[in-house]
Amino acid sequence: MSDKLVQKLFETSDLNDTELMTLLESDIFDAGLRRFADIVRRSYYGTDVYIRGLIEISNYCRNDCYYCGIRRSNRYIERYRLTKEEILNCCEIGYELGYRTFVLQGGEDNFYTDKIICEIVAEIRNKYPDCAITLSLGEKSYQSYKSFFDSGANRYLLRHETADAEHYAVLHPPDMQLNNRKKCLLALKEIGYQVGAGFMVGSPHQTTQNILADLRFLQNLEPAMIGIGPFIPHSQTPFQYFENGDLRLTLRLISILRLLFPYALIPATTALGTIDPLGRELGIVSGANVVMPNLSPVAVRKKYELYDNKICTGEEAAECRSCLNKRIASIGFNLVTHIGNVKDKKADVVQV
Ligand code: 5AD
Ligand code: FES
Repeated sequence: MSDKLVQKLFETSDLNDTELMTLLESDIFDAGLRRFADIVRRSYYGTDVYIRGLIEISNYCRNDCYYCGIRRSNRYIERYRLTKEEILNCCEIGYELGYRTFVLQGGEDNFYTDKIICEIVAEIRNKYPDCAITLSLGEKSYQSYKSFFDSGANRYLLRHETADAEHYAVLHPPDMQLNNRKKCLLALKEIGYQVGAGFMVGSPHQTTQNILADLRFLQNLEPAMIGIGPFIPHSQTPFQYFENGDLRLTLRLISILRLLFPYALIPATTALGTIDPLGRELGIVSGANVVMPNLSPVAVRKKYELYDNKICTGEEAAECRSCLNKRIASIGFNLVTHIGNVKDKKADVVQV
């Protein structure tokens, strides 16, 4: 029985709601899910794991998400923003280390006007024509997204966080709306970005039904990238007393995502590495194929704490790079530095 469900998911890249709920709510399918996820990933991506350099450009944020350590109400963190020169310097260090994708992530910080972002993007594009530029700067207008794209950005990460409007309202203050998130994601797709969406696993009051809605939402959106990681409480947020998201459920979901979205780029996230010392390795083994080490200057790392005990806040970029090399090699995978575009959805037929 257990094998049949997983086999069906493997063969059809889909299941009905009842079947998916069954997989989500039990751990007896985990080994099978992992095995088939690995077959699918190998058939699309071999043993390649792509590396993306994450540059955390600002921890100022105008939003007040209840889960997030850099929310505007947190008066206890020291705020920072990187200058254009500092960001370009991170890219230079990253390029030397072999990175060919730069991810500029930050809180929703109005200090960076569209003009400033466009200037930064254009300069990176000009200096590194062989690199992908990914932005992760939150909700903006269609026009802003379009101007960043026209300046040279190719990819945009904006997690939907939860596809259920009621649950969205539990995680965010009333001035943030799921509909606007969705509107942003659709705009990004329409403009031509490779889009990344995703959600936290085990966020406060999340139900299995919510996760099912997330999977259906993603099927509808067909993003190139899907980022999930466990929720981890931050001590200066209203959710400080909630528990970490579950490691096993996160890994199970990575396998399910790989089977539902064979073509997708799925990171083994820093949050996963934070709740377990081998979290990222387990994520890769379960079906993930991207890692996103930090390229931010060490002086600001600790300040970009979305959740408590975030790993890699003391390491230099080069240390993270070589640490990951070893980690990925130790599980029989191969860290690759090339640009690593998403595979065509209709890529080769899976061979068993
Ligand atoms: N725990 C885990 N992930 C978090 N994020 C924000 N706060 C937390 C937290 N406390 C995630 C969100 C966001 C991404 C950048 O980090 O999903 O989209
Ligand atoms: Fe940063 Fe290992 S990845 S120290």
